[in-house]
Amino acid sequence: WPDGTHLSGSDLVIGGVPATRLAAQFGTPCQVLDEATVRNRAKAFVAALPEAEVVFAGKSLPCPEVYRWMASVGLSLDVSSAGELALARAAGFPAGRIVMHGNVKTGEDLKAALEYGVSRIVADSFDEIAQLGALARHGQEVMIRVTPGVDAHTHAAVSTGVEDQKFGFSLASGAALEAVLRVVEQPSLRLAGLHCHIGSQVRHVASYEETVRRMVGLIASCGVRIEQLDLGGGFCAPYLPGESSFDLFGFAQRVRGTLSYECALHRVPVPRILIEPGRSIVANAGVTLYRVCAVKRGVRTFVAVDGGMSDNPRPALYGAKYAVRLVGRGGKLRPVTVVGRHCEAGDVLAENVLLPADVHAGDLLAVPVTGAYHHALASNYNQVGRPPVVAVRDGLARPIVRRETEEDLLRRYV
Ligand code: LLP
Repeated sequence: WPDGTHLSGSDLVIGGVPATRLAAQFGTPCQVLDEATVRNRAKAFVAALPEAEVVFAGKSLPCPEVYRWMASVGLSLDVSSAGELALARAAGFPAGRIVMHGNVKTGEDLKAALEYGVSRIVADSFDEIAQLGALARHGQEVMIRVTPGVDAHTHAAVSTGVEDQKFGFSLASGAALEAVLRVVEQPSLRLAGLHCHIGSQVRHVASYEETVRRMVGLIASCGVRIEQLDLGGGFCAPYLPGESSFDLFGFAQRVRGTLSYECALHRVPVPRILIEPGRSIVANAGVTLYRVCAVKRGVRTFVAVDGGMSDNPRPALYGAKYAVRLVGRGGKLRPVTVVGRHCEAGDVLAENVLLPADVHAGDLLAVPVTGAYHHALASNYNQVGRPPVVAVRDGLARPIVRRETEEDLLRRYV
């Protein structure tokens, strides 16, 4: 739950605003985002690693207002398309603090990045280096995305540090070193540093330590000065009661220690570190409110709500698990399966969660930890409009993304 969330009677108060009031005012489904929690998590990264550049992974919660919060607490921003860059521009995010990512950047993506003057572009293929070299002027800064060959022990769909997946230049095969040389050869490009991102929802600090070791080994073999080392994001967030948060302090200490040891060992200058947290900043700040529309009691009890895989495809995609709480009253708890409104049996939001035995249509449900990759992954499946994102702070609520209407949906059809 977001910081400071508490019960008032049986209502749930988020950012000083009761959930029942949010549902009445903004409708359901509704994605609530606690601004203070977002700001506090962002600041915690800066405090833990004051020597590093902390780059918010904009894909985790693409929204100009959220990007403005990040800018105001001193974070940089990563974007991975011209679309995310357009949101950054709308937010007035300083170009000098934007990094562009992606294993595919189309000509439009690259041109938009060059035109806005993003400070660094992270190259992910030889084709891209060639294309960028031809398009860029005035020594555009480039980083090389490296595949360090580190297993982050996470879901295969978000494990990006191992060999034999689509991201990056392999360290083991020598492709990473060759990419460094290619960038150095291009007169229009300037090598700013090396980048890697081993995966998402990574629990073990040891995976990052191993990454640092391998990356410093590569730096030592580059033969050119590497000023920046971007370790990517991936720091886990707790989704269920009892799960622990990422050990940020331990991470900072161990990464710092390993970096200075390895750099001394290889006699290379210590590069400036960048990290790219997304989920760990915004996930726990989000709560989604749903209205129960139907309850079916059989072998199992199915509680069907007015949202589903269009606002949260994560259970279907990654087997993600969520807790669910009924807002507004208590009662003897029974296990139920919370399902969505979409035309698939796999549209399940949470299995085997405990809700009051008399749960019925009209009840309000709250699902925590929905701040990261929810608004970002939402779709229009079954032409259901995407929910709003409502920011709460000090008892005030305001939409920072409005609900998608039928008019919005119809706009694209010819
Ligand atoms: N840097 C790069 C280059 C990335 O690709 C990502 C995430 C991040 C940083 C931020 O990772 P985070 O700190 O948020 O874990 N849709 C999936 C997650 C995909 C992550 C994509 N890349 C999910 O819902 O679990």
